[in-house]
Amino acid sequence: MTTRGVFRSIGAGVAAAALVATATAAGAAPDRPGEPNFSAGADGIGDPYFPLAGNGGIDVVHYDLDIHYTPPEPDPAPLEGTMDATATIELASTADLDQFNLDLRGLVAESVVVDGKPMAFTQTDNELVVTPRPKLQAGRNVTVVVEYGGTTIRPRDIENALYGWVTTRDGAMVVSEPDGSATWFPVNDHPLDKATYEFEITVPEGLVAVANGLLVGESTVDGWTTWTWDAPDPMAAYLATATVGDFVLDSYTAENGTPIIDAVDPSRPASSSANLAKTGAMLTFFEGLYGDYPFVSYGAIVDDDSVGYALETQTRSFFSRNANESTVAHELAHQWMGNHVSPAQWSDIWLNEGWATYSSWMWAEANGGTTAQQSFDNVLNISEASSYWTIVVSDPGPFGLFSSPVYTRGAATLHALRTEIGDEDFFALAKEWVVRYGGGTASTNDFRALAEEVSGQDLDQLFDVWLDTPSRPTTW
Ligand code: TRP
Ligand code: ZN
Repeated sequence: MTTRGVFRSIGAGVAAAALVATATAAGAAPDRPGEPNFSAGADGIGDPYFPLAGNGGIDVVHYDLDIHYTPPEPDPAPLEGTMDATATIELASTADLDQFNLDLRGLVAESVVVDGKPMAFTQTDNELVVTPRPKLQAGRNVTVVVEYGGTTIRPRDIENALYGWVTTRDGAMVVSEPDGSATWFPVNDHPLDKATYEFEITVPEGLVAVANGLLVGESTVDGWTTWTWDAPDPMAAYLATATVGDFVLDSYTAENGTPIIDAVDPSRPASSSANLAKTGAMLTFFEGLYGDYPFVSYGAIVDDDSVGYALETQTRSFFSRNANESTVAHELAHQWMGNHVSPAQWSDIWLNEGWATYSSWMWAEANGGTTAQQSFDNVLNISEASSYWTIVVSDPGPFGLFSSPVYTRGAATLHALRTEIGDEDFFALAKEWVVRYGGGTASTNDFRALAEEVSGQDLDQLFDVWLDTPSRPTTW
């Protein structure tokens, strides 16, 4: 889906550059002016941190994922499942294409059909390469059906953290930040290309499959249950989930009217559910700060296995084993900050983690805990000599994406900004950020520009010192 943010953000330059590179790679100008000049879409969307993430020349509008999944046999059998799936992908060509890619890793494509016709394709490590015939002129809308499947494992990201389709004894934990969606479906795996989703997940009777959005159907035939979920809000691929396991579903309506669906493994302690029960109050609190909750539903998944972290999967945050209160607040705040407004490039990650961390600081203060000022002071009290201060928050590198300064120095940056421009402008900025870039993506430069626009102040020194300088701030 083409989003406003794509064209407003720095990322737009990157995406455009990728397309230009594609065009020049083909060499000559069209034989006749106005005639199509077909070339291959790039194998990446142009994000320097993850060169193969996303692709050039395509814009996905909708994914329909029909996944049949068999979890592992009981222990001591290996932790491997079996997937047999069909992805029906509606996409538009944004260039004249004689070839285009989707990202797919570790699973095998069996057939690729474009508008009803079987197409030639090949696979490399991260790429499914399709050769459409007839070739695709720019601006065509086509339906691409990929049959694929294979053995599921427990994939890891570049920092060695579990992510993607992580096979568990009773199913799978599916959390894909930043580029793990390619481990479970063919995808334009970058936030610059948001799309809507529908899921039909078929699992052995007795297991529950939990995806994004609203549950629209559940039916059992011959010992297999198909769970159908509809996620109509534009979503970055890393926020999609299709988690499978032994879950109890709890559905209710929050005070603000949002339908909530929680999925908790019954073996988890009651404390997790007690913290999830604060969701309604948190929704009301964050709506006051950031404006209306942006999606059709919310809820949490608490699994009995662990990837070692929680993730703000859109409309249905994922928690490993326990959901503690500050993490529940953090993942909920991400729905505005990170999910509705998403990073244009992965280097913009502090906009996700700084806002989510600052949100949990504000929740704590509002509930009689540590004040935001105290949390800010705790950051500035970190020894000047600590390696903590050597990370550049606005450019932490692909291996620093989830490093603690991205979270806490990012949050402290927002507190310094709030102190500088005052509460009225700070919260006007937060709301305008969500209104202006919601549904799309935005960059650090977009944020700096909006902060100056809303406050009427020159904030270059503050942002340079807090975001761009690898040392402890002293004056700003
Ligand atoms: N985005 C997650 C959060 O803060 C964090 C996350 C994603 C993460 N992948 C990770 C943390 C890998 C550590 C390692 O809610
Ligand atoms: Zn986070």
